Amino acid sequence: MAKTILTGIKPTGHPHIGNLFGMILPAIELTKKNEDSFLFIANIHALNSVKERKALADNTHEVAAALLAFGLDPSRTTFYRQSDVPEVFELTSILMNFSPKGLMNRAHAYKALFDRDGNDDNVNMGLYTYPILMAADILIMDTDVVPVGLDQKQHIEIARDIANSFNAIYGNVLKPPVEAISEQVGTVIGLDGRKMSKSYDNVIALFESPDETAKKIMKVATDSLPPEAPKPGDTALYKLMELFPSTVDLRRRYLAGGLGYGDAKKELAAAVNEYLFEPRARFAELMSDPDAMELALAAGANKARARASKVLKRVKDAIGL
Ligand code: TRP
Repeated sequence: MAKTILTGIKPTGHPHIGNLFGMILPAIELTKKNEDSFLFIANIHALNSVKERKALADNTHEVAAALLAFGLDPSRTTFYRQSDVPEVFELTSILMNFSPKGLMNRAHAYKALFDRDGNDDNVNMGLYTYPILMAADILIMDTDVVPVGLDQKQHIEIARDIANSFNAIYGNVLKPPVEAISEQVGTVIGLDGRKMSKSYDNVIALFESPDETAKKIMKVATDSLPPEAPKPGDTALYKLMELFPSTVDLRRRYLAGGLGYGDAKKELAAAVNEYLFEPRARFAELMSDPDAMELALAAGANKARARASKVLKRVKDAIGL
């Protein structure tokens, strides 16, 4: 039987090109390569940090529209929004009873916040039990493989631990998942040379105007080498170029010398805007018709619930509920 692949995307802000190469394109790729795939928008995980009504809904639509704009085919995968599948939350409540508190104490996100503050004052239970909700996301679909970035590896290990604890008592009921770590994730460099991240304010948003994109690229810091000098390859500017296949010739001329930074930036901005031109148009179209997007998500939720309800029934039968 084909392996079941599942991954979730947390909608926390306007998608940027770091998200594109780190997550959106790899997620689309995996739906193309696998017959049985599940891809969902983890909006309840986002609720942990996004508590503004409009922002949460908009972020969710933006991620959905971004995936569709870059070519996700919802007929090839089960594409849904976490909150539309209540079975996930029912399983979460059940799994709480198989999830040691000590295991949660070791989860990186919780530990980081605790270590920063030296106390639990800023820790809500959504954050503390984040790994259990994530385990439910995964286990509810009988997932075999979870493709994620390295930062999520521990969460998959925890999901596996929880499944094994349950199975130790009730037999082979839950399928222990394995992670597939994608190298790409997290490696996109931002405008200032650090990892591209909203928290560093160094991103190129996917769906901003071509002018905004060009302005940001023109501001990338460079040294003062003259136009004729060969330019260095270990810079933010060059790393940005490397993301876009159409810059092969630009990169060659940049490294060889004879091309000033200003001109290189102009060419790069044009290449980025050209790459994003069609997806931006599709995105605008999708965002202008939220009802159509809701319909697509509802269809995905139906498919997802069909699978989830079977697994949940198996779990409840095992427990005797
Ligand atoms: N926690 C993941 C992240 O922040 C998103 C996520 C939620 C997820 N549930 C998942 C990823 C289940 C894989 C499987 O990126």
